[in-house]
Amino acid sequence: MTQVTVLKGQTLRFSSNPFLGNWGDAIDFKSRGAVAMADGKILDHGEADIVVAKFPQADVRDYGSDLIMAGFVDAHVHYPQTAIIASWGKRLIDWLNGYTFPEEMKFNNDDYATDIAGRYLDLALAHGTTSVASYCTIHPQSVDAFFTQAEARQMRVVAGKTCMDRNAPDGLCDTAQSAYDDSKTLLDRWHKRGRAEYAITPRFSPTSTPDQLAAMGALWAEHPSCLMQTHLSEQTDEITWVRELFPNARDYLDTYEQFGLLGAKGLYGHAIHLEPREIDRLKELNAGIVHCPTSNTFIGSGLFDLMGLAGTGHRVGLATDTGGGSSFSMLRTMAAAYEIGQLHGTAIHPSQLLWLATVGSARSLHMDDKIGNIDKDLEADLVVIDLASTRAIEQRYAAAKDEWSAIFPTIMMGDDRAIRSVWVNGSEVS
Ligand code: GUN
Ligand code: ZN
Repeated sequence: MTQVTVLKGQTLRFSSNPFLGNWGDAIDFKSRGAVAMADGKILDHGEADIVVAKFPQADVRDYGSDLIMAGFVDAHVHYPQTAIIASWGKRLIDWLNGYTFPEEMKFNNDDYATDIAGRYLDLALAHGTTSVASYCTIHPQSVDAFFTQAEARQMRVVAGKTCMDRNAPDGLCDTAQSAYDDSKTLLDRWHKRGRAEYAITPRFSPTSTPDQLAAMGALWAEHPSCLMQTHLSEQTDEITWVRELFPNARDYLDTYEQFGLLGAKGLYGHAIHLEPREIDRLKELNAGIVHCPTSNTFIGSGLFDLMGLAGTGHRVGLATDTGGGSSFSMLRTMAAAYEIGQLHGTAIHPSQLLWLATVGSARSLHMDDKIGNIDKDLEADLVVIDLASTRAIEQRYAAAKDEWSAIFPTIMMGDDRAIRSVWVNGSEVS
């Protein structure tokens, strides 16, 4: 007989997108709820008494008033930047040259890549993040290390070899041909193996020649079930540089579109300083945009227009952008998204923040039929959150009048101390 596990607590799931319509209609909150799971899948959910009665043989874990919801999905990270997170004093291009590229050079060493991949994934899990989409480095072994470590933890992940053939140090450059060949070999090895998916990964237009972008576009056309991840319009200096490097492009997005690198399965990180044409084109193609708020404030990139994009039906996910971002925590990331929303004059509702960090990110990865919510037959990746994890949060929680005033202080002030338990593929991992 298959072992059934039931988690009891306050449960939160989404029945629709709270950015499009009344957020109250989009959420299903139960103060005495439960989730049943077996064989890595969600079997059932609902009122605790009813779910528990259905599975009399189940192993029941009672989490009291802790909040049970889908594990967080981080739609844009650079696991190789784990050891340089929170490096002081530079903006994007200097930060890449001064901190990122020297660190990424170290990933030609298998042992180092394995050490950091394991360290990163353990940190992500400790913060309640059960799935990530990661950049690796140009070294194929950095990709093997990441997928091997994720497989050992049974995590659903997306990753790809970062491709660069110009404007990076010699030791960090491939060529158009070797980027194509290595990406293809890795894709054949890892794409859809267990819970892994491969993403074709040109870093961004400034570090790829037109030949390399064309090679990546050709590879994507040959493997359309893969995601393609890259960066778009993060800082104004970067956009000026792109204009110089690609004088014939209509705009930054066009440097991808010209080479077959724009589509619904494309994931465009940052997308802060967009032209109206770019906004329309991303919408027309239903392409993924990934908001990385702690990175945008930390590197000083600018204010992403979340309501203007998610609120008008763009496919938007949320991400830490480790290590340009300053935290591994999706709670901290939601707080930064809220603050940037305030600077735009819009108060993002907690339901919208939590939706972005779960369903929204899963949608951006085209994985919302597998992860990111509590629903029958979805994969059982869950997080249990203590809503009174510190003295500051506890005193605020004690005075809460409804579920949102109980949850919002944890979004704004919470971190890994709020993560009581994490379940991946139906097993407790922390
Ligand atoms: N643009 C190109 N590469 C990177 C990176 O590693 N981090 C960030 N934040 N932006 C980038
Ligand atoms: Zn990035």
